[in-house]
Amino acid sequence: MSDKQSLEGEVFYPSPEVIEQARIKDWEAVARRAEADLEGFWAQEAAELEWYQRWEKVLDDSNKPFFRWFAGAKTNIVHNALDRHQKTYRKNKLSLVWVGEKGEVRTYSYFALNRDVCKFANVLKAMGVKKGDRVTIYMPRIPEIVIAMLATAKVGAVHSVVYGGFSVDALQGRIEDSESKVVVTADGGFMNGKVVELKKTVDEAVRRCPTVETVITVQRTHHEIRMEPGRDYWYHELMKLPLASGHCATEVMDASDPLYILYTSGTTGQPKGIIHAHGGYMVGVYSTLKYVFDLKDEDRWWCAADPGWVTGHSYIVYGPLLMGATTFMYEGAPTYPYPNRWWSLVEKYGITVLYTAPTAIRGLMRFGESWPNRHDLSSLRLLGSVGEPINPEAWRWYHRVIGKGRCPIMDTWWQTETGMFMITPTPSVPLKPGSGTRPFFGQKAEILDDQGNPVPDGEEGYLVLRNPWPAMMTTIFKDPDRMVKQYWSKYPGKYQAGDAAKRDKDGYFWIIGRTDDVIKVSGYRLGTAEIESALVAHPAIAEAAVIGLPHEVKGQSIHCYCLLRQGFKPSEDLADEVKNHVAQHMGPIVRPEKVVFVESLPKTRSGKIMRRVLKARAQGLPEGDVSTLEE
Ligand code: WTA
Repeated sequence: MSDKQSLEGEVFYPSPEVIEQARIKDWEAVARRAEADLEGFWAQEAAELEWYQRWEKVLDDSNKPFFRWFAGAKTNIVHNALDRHQKTYRKNKLSLVWVGEKGEVRTYSYFALNRDVCKFANVLKAMGVKKGDRVTIYMPRIPEIVIAMLATAKVGAVHSVVYGGFSVDALQGRIEDSESKVVVTADGGFMNGKVVELKKTVDEAVRRCPTVETVITVQRTHHEIRMEPGRDYWYHELMKLPLASGHCATEVMDASDPLYILYTSGTTGQPKGIIHAHGGYMVGVYSTLKYVFDLKDEDRWWCAADPGWVTGHSYIVYGPLLMGATTFMYEGAPTYPYPNRWWSLVEKYGITVLYTAPTAIRGLMRFGESWPNRHDLSSLRLLGSVGEPINPEAWRWYHRVIGKGRCPIMDTWWQTETGMFMITPTPSVPLKPGSGTRPFFGQKAEILDDQGNPVPDGEEGYLVLRNPWPAMMTTIFKDPDRMVKQYWSKYPGKYQAGDAAKRDKDGYFWIIGRTDDVIKVSGYRLGTAEIESALVAHPAIAEAAVIGLPHEVKGQSIHCYCLLRQGFKPSEDLADEVKNHVAQHMGPIVRPEKVVFVESLPKTRSGKIMRRVLKARAQGLPEGDVSTLEE
């Protein structure tokens, strides 16, 4: 692979300066070491972190696929993210630099972040939160979301963060499933110069969730909200109470104790609560961030995702803090008030590594090069991409215009379920635009057909992972069988990712997209089933089918096919009303691009909607095998 002549297609080779700086200069050697001794490799990574008690076994695989990493070990991810830095110079280092959409700045040293986390952990304890309890967090991109997550983990409770762009139905379903007693939120958040009314959504959702006893609200937008006596408390008032002391012992956890639930969309039905645990997750996230983005003490890292998605959990909150790095967080929209907002932030705060999604790049690309060109982007040394396949055109623009041709792009393929990067380059490997290159150390990926046979290089098949990895999900909340069925059954002993992909003759992987009913809208993972149930909740709609169709900026957009109830007539107004209905119930990001009223839906004889046929028809493509079609 190191032989330049042997790589096929468009290849970008790292410059000598990049290789010089890279932590890993010889990728092949590390890959070989991890392959020869998987447990040894991860044990060495784990040894860079602190443990209250060492593991008895690095990997306990006696109950597959419920793998237990660092079995017998005791730790708490917060100990490694905050506590251990208090003993070093990092106590005075910036952990978090935050900029609000209106331009206000807040900074936290590791000392200050730890102090606020301790204070809020004491508040949570006073509210009766105990080890194992679930806490739902529904907040804008403000420092308090980080504090709430860390404080929950510190007391041994399990956080369930719901993305602030979701609305009532989505929030309610997730609070209900997690049976949270406490919800942490804010009065609102700022996005595109407008107030997003989060507390109002919480009020509506909680009205239907009897488990919730306490709602804690951070004051951010200062608009008027309703506070229910006995249930609702202001964060800033609680943090002033004597009980909110700046000292709080970190709960000692088993490595396999749950750290968080993150709901994500699957093939059918309700979203599933993916569980990640303290020990393995901590090691996987730490190690991937270290090797892939090569973070050093002097870096300023900006993962421009939202903490409400797995990217934010792993690489805004936990990863950078585990590394003792300085993380940058921006509250608002990339184009507010102008399309240079991000680039001005890179310049002003000296961002060295920027990690974002292809949809954001395409969105900013539309405004032309003059916006980034007005800014000094010379602090950047590495770029990253995540969430969906990056089209080579966007890759080249990102590389040339933002990275000035100097900055390698780390295209990281992974999932909520994997917790950490799975297919990804490191800075010193040759890159091909649109490929995430090869599996991370210790991993083996395969492309299989329906029967489980490997497909030849260059042909499309199902992406499968062969080896266990430390940040793998430990189970699905309240539904362990679903994990076995969905991920580990089609190819026994192997993890089925749900993506179609190809491998080229250089061993590089190319992700094509989901093979199930998951749609990726602006990188956000949405399930058709959830959108369909929001649709049929509208009085005019009897039945609905949702598909994702290609969209220039968003990657995919939502198209809805609806059968009307008797007495309703199709009209533009009704279509708009239905779009608003979905946006209101599910959240603005779930707003359909198009609502089409139809007389019938293509179904199999057993009554299953054939979305594949709808998709083909909408794009004027051949319908494929329709032998089971009922029409
Ligand atoms: C897609 C996001 C191509 C993929 C971290 C996966 C990608 C799903 C990439 C998981 C990438 C993520 N290239 N496709 N670099 N990264 N995906 O759970 O379809 O929100 O299965 O996790 O996103 O989405 P999730």
